[in-house]
Amino acid sequence: MQIIESVSELLTYVENGKQKGLKSGLVPTMGALHEGHLSLVRQSVKDNDVTIVSLFVNPVQFNNPKDLETYPRQPEQDFKLLAREGVDVVFAPVESEIYPEGFDRNRKFNLGKVAEVMEGKHRPGHFQGVALVVNRLFQLCRPTRAYFGLKDFQQIAVIREMLRYEDLDVEIVPCPIVREESGLALSSRNMLLSPAQRREAAAIHAVLKESVDFAKSHSVEETRRFVVERLDAKDDFKVEYFEIVDGLTLLPVEEWTEAALIVGCITVYVGNVRLIDNIQYKQLKAN
Ligand code: PAF
Repeated sequence: MQIIESVSELLTYVENGKQKGLKSGLVPTMGALHEGHLSLVRQSVKDNDVTIVSLFVNPVQFNNPKDLETYPRQPEQDFKLLAREGVDVVFAPVESEIYPEGFDRNRKFNLGKVAEVMEGKHRPGHFQGVALVVNRLFQLCRPTRAYFGLKDFQQIAVIREMLRYEDLDVEIVPCPIVREESGLALSSRNMLLSPAQRREAAAIHAVLKESVDFAKSHSVEETRRFVVERLDAKDDFKVEYFEIVDGLTLLPVEEWTEAALIVGCITVYVGNVRLIDNIQYKQLKAN
């Protein structure tokens, strides 16, 4: 496994692969890797001739400086984990490689309505920052496929939207959420929870799962309230938002019959740690 820090070395590697006609997979990450990331890596290694994993904590997507400061960083451990997975290249640049002098960090992408709701509303500028770095990584790595976890359900929709307006031919591969045994969705932020908070945080998935049954005999609004009230009742929990949305437009639905794919997306503070998760209520298969 090669560890590449400079853009020029990366470009040479990518160009060589292109000339050989190799299919490549990119797994963009901000490091502090866990089994969720590794599941994306394994899928990429299976699907492609070569796999590039990027490790870069992208400052442009953090709207809260404290969140950026406390974001976990453990590159040496990440390299060790990736070396066991058959990864070809880890791209671990410093900020000036991703955003060199003169690079337009304020460039705005057309991300449509999917970027305006939920995370878009609560973290202003976040998705523009994600689009900026993912676009830059796609330009540099020119991957055949790129892998993203479905825990960040809205992020996938936003990246697809970004791709619609950019001249980039990349297949987006969404991968299932990986959970701890307790049901807590894996996240680099879980390591910021105390052991007691981590145990308690399992309630997020437990309540979401319960709500799928509840939804069978209740309205969308009753189901939404069921989730928020149960989680807000817990010590140290504060639901930032829980929205039940059309899985394509990400706009709230009022009736279960309104869309073929209906997803509940939640953000909860457990203490000071901001956790996100989602659950599918309905998916009608097209014939
Ligand atoms: O999902 C993430 O970890 C980040 O938003 C991403 C896609 C690596 C961009 O920095």
